[in-house]
Amino acid sequence: MLKQAKISAVSHYVPEKVLTNFDLEKMVDTNDEWIRSRTGISERHICEDGKATSDMSAEAVKRLCEQRGISPDEIDVIIVGTVTPDMFFPSTANLVQEKVGAKNAWSFDVAAACSGFLYALASGTQFIASGMYKKVVVVGSDKMSSIINYKDRNTCVLFGDGAGAVLLEPDEEGNGIIDFLLHSDGSGAEFLKMKGGGSLYPASLKTVTSDWHFLYQDGKQVFKFAVQRMADVSARILEKHNYTGDDLKLFVPHQANLRIIDAAVKRVGVDSDKVMINIAKYGNTTGATIPLALSEAYQEGRLDKGDLVLFATFGGGFTWGSSLLKWSMDNPVKK
Ligand code: UT7
Repeated sequence: MLKQAKISAVSHYVPEKVLTNFDLEKMVDTNDEWIRSRTGISERHICEDGKATSDMSAEAVKRLCEQRGISPDEIDVIIVGTVTPDMFFPSTANLVQEKVGAKNAWSFDVAAACSGFLYALASGTQFIASGMYKKVVVVGSDKMSSIINYKDRNTCVLFGDGAGAVLLEPDEEGNGIIDFLLHSDGSGAEFLKMKGGGSLYPASLKTVTSDWHFLYQDGKQVFKFAVQRMADVSARILEKHNYTGDDLKLFVPHQANLRIIDAAVKRVGVDSDKVMINIAKYGNTTGATIPLALSEAYQEGRLDKGDLVLFATFGGGFTWGSSLLKWSMDNPVKK
């Protein structure tokens, strides 16, 4: 019989250094008012030189183990959703496995841009459901500053660095992850990508002088698809399970743009006080946004056991999806 997976711990890590809108005003032709009104972002955290996605991920995983009171060698699998791996190979998950001392775990990365965490969560859930493993760590982590052109005002104001992680274990109490709706549409590849450095255009003088080692985004096109698809996939998973926005305790959407979140909130029909939004502090941390927002919501005491929670995402690929779950952890604030 299939087992239900639950989130039994949730944590995050953000680097100390903060880059504000006012700092960016000195770097490119932009201003705080434009950034806040078009995106909802005020500041973002930036990872220090010499540290990478695996370091932020490892910090989040160490905090996860402390919270759950387990030793890293009890972890069976580590999955990292990222588009900014430390290097092509070995996988970032492998580096995290070493850094946290999870010597009994095997590990791999999932590349699905902003949907990386949700895709990785869906993968990890299957290992629990099948009974194959009992402790699966799922990380969403990105050092976006490593692929951002800080001379391009169209993109440099949007992104930040950070990591979030959850531990998945079998549920015994009737809570846990209920379902996923996941999608891909490769025809969207041209609108959001990093063109250079892969097997099509290996790193060369040409790729570097053409800025192909930086993230490229056609913001308007991505916005159009994101608004429609994230809203749609959020509403559809609720309808599929005969829930409405009123049944939700918390909606945790991908944090790319406040206006995209607003469209999804409207479509789902959920009260705004039930929506977790932290984009102002962190910007778009790509794979990290959902676990980072979830971790803060948990720490703020916004979740009790049995509460209905909705995740939704949209990102490069295109990739998008939603997940519905019943919260499985005690409220740390009410304890
Ligand atoms: O997480 C992955 C998925 N990514 C997303 O979901 C992001 C989706 N896209 C967006 O969030 C929005 O399209 C942006 C925030 C990127 C841009 O907002 P927009 O309302 O679509 O602005 P726009 O691109 O239409 O630009 C409007 C104007 C342009 O000037 P003109 O042509 O009207 O004179 C831009 O050049 O704003 C200008 N502009 C800026 N001005 C000041 C663009 N970036 C900036 C900037 N500061 N940083």
